[in-house]
Amino acid sequence: MRAAFYEKLGPAREVLQVGDMPDPLPLAGEVRVKIAASGVNPSDVKMRAGTGSAANQYPRTIPHSDGAGVIDQVGAGVPPARIGQRVWVWNARWNRAFGTAAQFVTLPAEQAVPLPDNIDFAAGACFGIPALTAWQGVETDGGVAAGDWVLVNGGAGAVGHYAVQMAALKGARVITTVSSAAKAAHARQAGAEIVIDRKKEDIVQRIRSVTGGKGVARAIEVDFSGNMAWLPQVMADYGLVAIYGSSKPEATVPFGPSILANIGYRFFIVYNQPPALRVRAIAALDGMLRNNSLKHTVAASYPLADIATAHEAVERGAVIGNVVVLP
Ligand SMILES: NC(=O)c1ccc[n+]([C@@H]2O[C@H](COP(=O)([O-])OP(=O)(O)OC[C@H]3O[C@@H](n4cnc5c(N)ncnc54)[C@H](OP(=O)(O)O)[C@@H]3O)[C@@H](O)[C@H]2O)c1
Repeated sequence: MRAAFYEKLGPAREVLQVGDMPDPLPLAGEVRVKIAASGVNPSDVKMRAGTGSAANQYPRTIPHSDGAGVIDQVGAGVPPARIGQRVWVWNARWNRAFGTAAQFVTLPAEQAVPLPDNIDFAAGACFGIPALTAWQGVETDGGVAAGDWVLVNGGAGAVGHYAVQMAALKGARVITTVSSAAKAAHARQAGAEIVIDRKKEDIVQRIRSVTGGKGVARAIEVDFSGNMAWLPQVMADYGLVAIYGSSKPEATVPFGPSILANIGYRFFIVYNQPPALRVRAIAALDGMLRNNSLKHTVAASYPLADIATAHEAVERGAVIGNVVVLP
């Protein structure tokens, strides 16, 4: 099969190679997926660059955790009826060397989830990380309730855009931050009621004003280190900050405002979602997909041979939406 891979960490153009590798065969309990689209996430890029939180311990790595395609072989113990099923996959490149940037991936059968016919493969290649992270941000620790004010920082991001939609679908009133008019329009279309330009406006004053001084019940945070200085000032009493990203490895948490407002800080990483939570997340996402409640944004797609360009686009934050590679 054709596959993209790297054998050392570093800049995309220096370390990513595209070449032939043996076709993988599914082991017992596994399926083989013929990949139609492979999703590129910031964590794939950071793992390849060697700047991520997780170490890369393999002599050769095929990148990318997310992808979608069709099951073309099954291992022992997996119903042969699954052959021909359209699927999206999760965690293909988590604690495993070979991800989806290839013509085939083999992985445990439960990591290949049926993809409804109304969803195309490119969109399906962006569920494992962006959509499931957004769902967890909205639902962790009891979840948001209808009528709650919820702040989604970075509502035009791949995760943020799904978080805005999922919170709004629950009847929450969503406030989001963006940094351009195009991103504002994108977040508004997702269901954000209040869109704040974080580069031009006083975020704290705006949020306190629209919430009548009460603050938000939940913040879904893309940049813990970047926003921690002011976040406690916009949280309602007993509010929860659900944190999935940070631009720097460390942050200072203001103690006084945090304790006085009884703020909870929940860090989470979607890769190691507890199994019961993942079952709930996948079922909830499946329901939203089947009744077409979500908008998907595949911003750019590249042939496998241009995988370095795809990584660079994600690295620069050059696009609004997801980037996919087509093997
Ligand atoms: N914990 C997890 O499991 C998990 C899962 C997925 C992603 N992540 C991490 O989450 C981050 C975002 O991932 P993504 O796929 O959504 O990336 P993305 O599509 O590039 O989106 C990031 C968004 O955040 C915005 N942003 C950047 N700094 C911000 C700040 N200080 N305040 C508010 N908005 C800000 C960006 O827009 P502007 O800068 O233009 O405003 C952009 O729209 C990455 O660091 C990624 O590694 C973690």
